[in-house]
Amino acid sequence: MARLGGGLAYPPVDGRPAMSYPASFYSALHRGTPGDLDHYRRVCEGASSILELGCGYGRVVTALAASGRTIVGVELDPQMLALARAAVETLAPSLRAGITLCHGDMRDLSLPQRFERVLVPFGGLYCMLDDAELDAALRTVTHHLAPGGRAAFDVYRADEFHATAEPEDVPADAHTPLTRVEVDGVPYEVLERSRWDRDHQRIDVEYLYVSEQGDAVVGTIEQRYLLEPQLHAALARAGLRVVEQHGGFVAPEPRREDEDEDELLVLVVARVGE
Ligand SMILES: C[S@@+](CC[C@H](N)C(=O)[O-])C[C@H]1O[C@@H](n2cnc3c(N)ncnc32)[C@H](O)[C@@H]1O
Repeated sequence: MARLGGGLAYPPVDGRPAMSYPASFYSALHRGTPGDLDHYRRVCEGASSILELGCGYGRVVTALAASGRTIVGVELDPQMLALARAAVETLAPSLRAGITLCHGDMRDLSLPQRFERVLVPFGGLYCMLDDAELDAALRTVTHHLAPGGRAAFDVYRADEFHATAEPEDVPADAHTPLTRVEVDGVPYEVLERSRWDRDHQRIDVEYLYVSEQGDAVVGTIEQRYLLEPQLHAALARAGLRVVEQHGGFVAPEPRREDEDEDELLVLVVARVGE
């Protein structure tokens, strides 16, 4: 008998969960965008203090760990946080010494420290499901920046999709095979389907993991995408200005021909006036 799982990863915050996705399944599939870690390493060169909002299972925190560097990772999902803590434990003592991971909400966070870099990698801003949440998260970014500091994030660019896609391009009733992954030693086929709401700029993606025995687990990512002018307006409301903008990560190899130049919005920002 197939067992449909998933469930809430953590109790609802303000009446809703931020994500409903068992962390071990999430971490097996969502491994970042090629080139993103090199980009964040470059952005953080010379920085001795870094805050990552929405640090997930610790992918970026562990990649940026360096002797003498302070890194704070904040994550809402306790399961993810547990995976991040386990990942940090595997680092050499000199690397993990400066890392602190804490349970927290980027929409409502006030740490005593200020940081030279504040990061929200891998589409974390799209977890903010309305303008109030986005503004709150960006105020958190501004609040935690040290004087002269820089914040950096990346999100996928949705402008063309939003303007030109038709509802039938995103069939909500069909699962599409995506890939195969192994979770805790068990192989799963992964299928996905998306629910798109153009008016609310929402694409909620459901990932269905099915084992050879027919066990099934569901993970859902709820997201609200932004159009580029909306993101720029939100940055201005938070007192932030764009220092760098790229359409993708600069990969070490030449870009493949079939890759869209502008598939991402990769931004480095500073406080207005700095
Ligand atoms: C797309 S994932 C990115 C994870 C990680 N930054 C990476 O690059 O691998 C976004 C993460 O933000 C977390 N998250 C969502 N809403 C949050 C909030 N309000 N405060 C803190 N973390 C949040 C999610 O649980 C998830 O782990």
